[in-house]
Amino acid sequence: MSETKPTTLVIFGASGDLTRRKLLPALFDAYRKKRLPKKFFIVGSARRDWDDKIFRDLMREAVIEFEEDFDPVAWRSFAQQIYFCRGELTVAEDFVQLKKDLHQLEDGPANRLYYLAIAPRFFASTVQHLGNTNLVDQKEGWRNVVIEKPFGRDLASAEELSQTIHKILNEDQIYRIDHFLGKETAQNLLFLRFANAIFEPLWNRNYIKCVQITAAESVDVGHRGGYYDKAGILRDMFQNHILQLLTLITMEPPAPYNATTLRNEKVKILSAIRPIDLEDTVRGQYKGYLDAPGVAPNSQIATFAALKLFIDTWRWKDVPFYLRSGKALAKKATEISIIFKRPPYQMFDAFDEPQPNVLSICIQPDEGIHFQFEAKVPDTTHETRTVDMEFHYKDSFPKIDLPDAYERLLLDALQCDASLFARDDEIVNSWRIIDPILNGWQTDDAPPLASYIPGSWGPTEADELLAKEGHIWRMGCGNHD
Ligand code: BG6
Repeated sequence: MSETKPTTLVIFGASGDLTRRKLLPALFDAYRKKRLPKKFFIVGSARRDWDDKIFRDLMREAVIEFEEDFDPVAWRSFAQQIYFCRGELTVAEDFVQLKKDLHQLEDGPANRLYYLAIAPRFFASTVQHLGNTNLVDQKEGWRNVVIEKPFGRDLASAEELSQTIHKILNEDQIYRIDHFLGKETAQNLLFLRFANAIFEPLWNRNYIKCVQITAAESVDVGHRGGYYDKAGILRDMFQNHILQLLTLITMEPPAPYNATTLRNEKVKILSAIRPIDLEDTVRGQYKGYLDAPGVAPNSQIATFAALKLFIDTWRWKDVPFYLRSGKALAKKATEISIIFKRPPYQMFDAFDEPQPNVLSICIQPDEGIHFQFEAKVPDTTHETRTVDMEFHYKDSFPKIDLPDAYERLLLDALQCDASLFARDDEIVNSWRIIDPILNGWQTDDAPPLASYIPGSWGPTEADELLAKEGHIWRMGCGNHD
């Protein structure tokens, strides 16, 4: 990077889990790859009585814990750029002190990225404090703010948060993070579609029977019961990650390609999603959820959901999209399957109807792409079997480790590239889709809260949702056991 001014990353919530687990390991990795700005400071802010040394030592331990190969020599030079500034999010004078400390450290004009790795209830007030202290004034360099999820807990609160923040910041200063967009495989969705010529002609209602997105997790809510019992699966996974994946798989090619056109196309998809019928939703709760710490004894929160939706555009009219996600499922697997229509008639005298071709994009783990097609079983006259063409990142790029999503996103934000961050209208439109389901699930028309066994694939109602239309959930990236 040729930038001569220093760049400072200020992390609010520096004593939290996200800083330890994700941010510092990602920054250290980027440092080792020489991708950080030349003159770069990391300033942690939290209310602990720490100093630079304590913070550096704690971050060293965190990086050792969460990075695979720790390089002590590189750490020593990296650590010189790390500072700590004690401060409380609710105390105005602490922001004044932070400003003084930053001026002293930067010793002249600098660019700044503020990262709000804090509880969502402090998002608005922290931005207000930044505004009141002129910490976001851009006369001496850019001032951008990364905001973690969740951005609001429903449409009304997201709009309110947005309005408050927009009084202080321009939209192009706001980087709403959705770490799924930083996943290498999520970024590759656009490359698969638009850096190849063969898929796009088929990528529409004429050839595609249905599309499925599964984001399954084997972990249960663990120690996050307090948060989860207020959020539930729709807020935790659908409003953000799953709808983002859906936009990437369905949007039109942005032209020319840049952050604005890309996000314009995503918004067009989100605004074209037909209101979801409550009958096309399934909600589940795994057995044992009520015993998790922080969970209300009679909680009706869903830890699993499956939805069917339609996108009313020329390309996608009447193609069903099936989305599902849950905790405590059989395995951790996020994948997207494109199920193509079957051949128009059975020319071969086969016993069974041929299976549809399925293109499965494995977001994680074992990142890659599988294409299933029918082949003649050798030494038979008319038997066919489904076979698999596979691409695995680990085989095709054996020398390149897939970077953590946070590394990509931090580097993009440090270069002021907002392409992989959600814009205000994306967030509002996502809530517009999810809000009616959240509300509907509070009424008598709600589908029953189905119970499912931990380690299963969720309630059978989710299978029935597809079976009604002759579909089954497909897991093309591995065995659906
Ligand atoms: C987070 C959710 O946003 O995403 C968690 O709050 C979930 O509940 C996590 O476990 C899943 O992310 P990943 O990258 O592990 O698939």
